[in-house]
Amino acid sequence: MSAPATTPIPVVILISGRGSNLHAIIEAVKRDSLPIDIRAVISNRPGAGGLQYAAEAGIATDVIDHTKFATRAAFDHALQARIDACQPKLVILAGFMRILTEDFVTHYRGRMLNIHPSLLPEFPGLNTHQRVLDAGCEVHGASVHFVTADMDGGPVLLQTQIPVLADDTAEQLAARVLEQEHRLYPQAIRMFAEGRLTLGDKDAVLLDGRILQQPLQLATTEDVTAP
Ligand code: GRF
Repeated sequence: MSAPATTPIPVVILISGRGSNLHAIIEAVKRDSLPIDIRAVISNRPGAGGLQYAAEAGIATDVIDHTKFATRAAFDHALQARIDACQPKLVILAGFMRILTEDFVTHYRGRMLNIHPSLLPEFPGLNTHQRVLDAGCEVHGASVHFVTADMDGGPVLLQTQIPVLADDTAEQLAARVLEQEHRLYPQAIRMFAEGRLTLGDKDAVLLDGRILQQPLQLATTEDVTAP
């Protein structure tokens, strides 16, 4: 007998650019019944490619251009008002390239996720693929984490690992990690939407109400395994 269907939770997705993770999420809603209702896709950049995917999928889009605001706080305030008008249960950062104020992050505590192209806490920040190569790492990957005021430092829910190959360039590595991101993010969002993953006290991640000691690992077979 299959599990009962989860009622879709309202979400808002924030992007800044290409939008390939957004695309993967939209596909997962259509193809795999990912239980989310995307109320809006909001970009801080007018030309973000992902806006087109969203519009083609019939999703409301909006641009809040950060260059039009005098301060970071003023931008975050406008963004928060626009997001909250959608009453989301989850805010999904999908390549949203802005540092967020502490007030904004606190407002969405436990209901804002980000995806990052490294095995956090290793390699927060930019240019992760080149830095992984420079450091001689044999394993790389991607992480989905709850957003906290500590940039790329929030507690990790789910990760996936890939081997670094001897002759990899940063571009090749980036492409293979991105492919995994497109599997990883819908899976993490599904577990959140089903109420299985939550943020507890002291930034502990809870899986089915129990503290997760280490991030879940998404295996290449699509199975999620507890550590
Ligand atoms: C991804 O690599 C994601 O991990 C990072 O920004 C990139 C966004 O890519 N946070 P896209 O816009 O989803 O294609």
